[in-house]
Amino acid sequence: MEDLYYSDYIELDKILDSQHPKSFEALEDGNDEMLFIIIHQVYELWFKQIIFELDLVRHIFIRGRINDNSDDMSRAVHKLKRIGKILELINQQVSVLETMTALDFLEFRNLLLPASGFQSRQFRLIEAKLGLKMEQRYKTEYYKYTRRGSLSETDLQEVDRAESESTLKELIIQWLERMPFFHEDYWRDYRRSGAMDEQGTESDSVAKHKFWIDYRNAYKNSLSQNEAGRLAEFDKVFFAEGRGDSSPVAMRAALFITIYRNLPIFHMPFELLNTLSEIDELLSNWRYRHFMMVRRMIGLRVGTGGTSGAGYLEGTLSQHYAFREITEVATFLIERSKRPALPNTLKEKVSFNL
Ligand code: HEM
Repeated sequence: MEDLYYSDYIELDKILDSQHPKSFEALEDGNDEMLFIIIHQVYELWFKQIIFELDLVRHIFIRGRINDNSDDMSRAVHKLKRIGKILELINQQVSVLETMTALDFLEFRNLLLPASGFQSRQFRLIEAKLGLKMEQRYKTEYYKYTRRGSLSETDLQEVDRAESESTLKELIIQWLERMPFFHEDYWRDYRRSGAMDEQGTESDSVAKHKFWIDYRNAYKNSLSQNEAGRLAEFDKVFFAEGRGDSSPVAMRAALFITIYRNLPIFHMPFELLNTLSEIDELLSNWRYRHFMMVRRMIGLRVGTGGTSGAGYLEGTLSQHYAFREITEVATFLIERSKRPALPNTLKEKVSFNL
């Protein structure tokens, strides 16, 4: 058998034969279009790796009954952290493209029409697999069309399919909902930290759980006068409607893990939640850097993909979060020293594989 050769193994010839600038052929006429093509290709390769890792993580959760102290959990966290590192890297790459000036870009911009990064199927797949839905986007009217500058029919179908499969966000919410923290057996030796309090607003029995009564009191006492309205929000998020796509049960679990993250059993679950927030933040950073670069490159002109351009990109910044609910749990935290002490039975017995 012939020895494996480096360039055959990574199919390098195919990759290196894939840069065909439209604005020049001879080197002496060369401009920044070569950089423009290569940087997009590099991005798309990293997008491919992100999708690969995301699918692995989704499958770990799809198999269900994930044991929080098992290899599965640490594998999932490890893969998500890798996605974070890739996002950090591709954020930095924006500055390589920024060595191209607006005038340099104009040398070939018109030749690209109406192609645009807006048509990046892989970018939309990442968003969809994370859990960002079409209807939650800024300017929803831009997406579900296959008009000039938008996704092709087949690409759009693939994004639709990814949206209809279990998204990472849905799987995480289901995992949070399965957590058995509030099984009565675990709370027999709980010592109330405060006096009984009126509970008027909550309706279900979990809301009347002694732990949550104590926590709610501690939260209430932590609020300054001009934030007093937050208590009603607390009740709504954790005991009535939930938040966004997340049910009250899932929100309670996320809050519980976040407050008691120092307990060994919560290390991994906390890492998981924290990494999801980090991914959202890093993606937002990318949106911001891309948006700023676009302003410098084309000012206020419309995008080649037919959107309003920088204005559209700025709008996506504040709206396109996949894990907003998890990040916003921070709104409802209290100081460490004010946390109710957990009963030993709970600390010893909780395992998440009911
Ligand atoms: C000169 C450099 C660039 C300019 C002027 C530019 C411009 C734009 C504009 C105006 C949009 C809005 C859609 C439209 O109407 O076209 C857009 C979207 C997008 N671009 Fe770029 N872009 C540049 C580089 C890149 C690079 C290197 C990537 C990497 C893959 C990229 C990926 C994307 C993606 C994924 C979107 C969709 C964003 C969203 O809908 O949230 N762009 N770009």
